[in-house]
Amino acid sequence: MSHFTRPLLSGEAESQTATLLQGCLVDLIDLALQMKQAHWNVVGPHFQPIHEKLDEVVETAREASDEVAERIVAIGVTADGRAATLVESSRLDAFPAGFHDGPTIVTACSDRLSKTCVGLREAIAPLGDLDPISEDLLIGITAELEKHLWMLQAQEK
Ligand SMILES: [Fe+2]
Repeated sequence: MSHFTRPLLSGEAESQTATLLQGCLVDLIDLALQMKQAHWNVVGPHFQPIHEKLDEVVETAREASDEVAERIVAIGVTADGRAATLVESSRLDAFPAGFHDGPTIVTACSDRLSKTCVGLREAIAPLGDLDPISEDLLIGITAELEKHLWMLQAQEK
């Protein structure tokens, strides 16, 4: 599977690590896209703080997706962030179309952020044995996203 002649991991660990990271990569890219969709389409009296908070989540999710993709490649496997792959394999529900008021947006975004964090935590556990470097990367990402989740869902009614 590895493209490189100096593999970081053994064949089985490489393949399982790449699969776990790929699942999180897709969720993170989808999360960034969905939070941008929400950033544009929130309306109502709480527009400004929600609009601004969502852009912070987008920034974290984008940077995290880049880090995860580059870790996949560093272990010698191709990272797949194509649109068709997202549609096929994202574990997040599609974002509802149209304008939404603040509370509706906060709930929809918190649900998706939470789902992303659950996926990350599910990958972290096996990565502890497979590849502690990838485990460490996902722990850092999850800490940042769970902080955003706190701040976002604190605005829920
Ligand atoms: Fe914007």
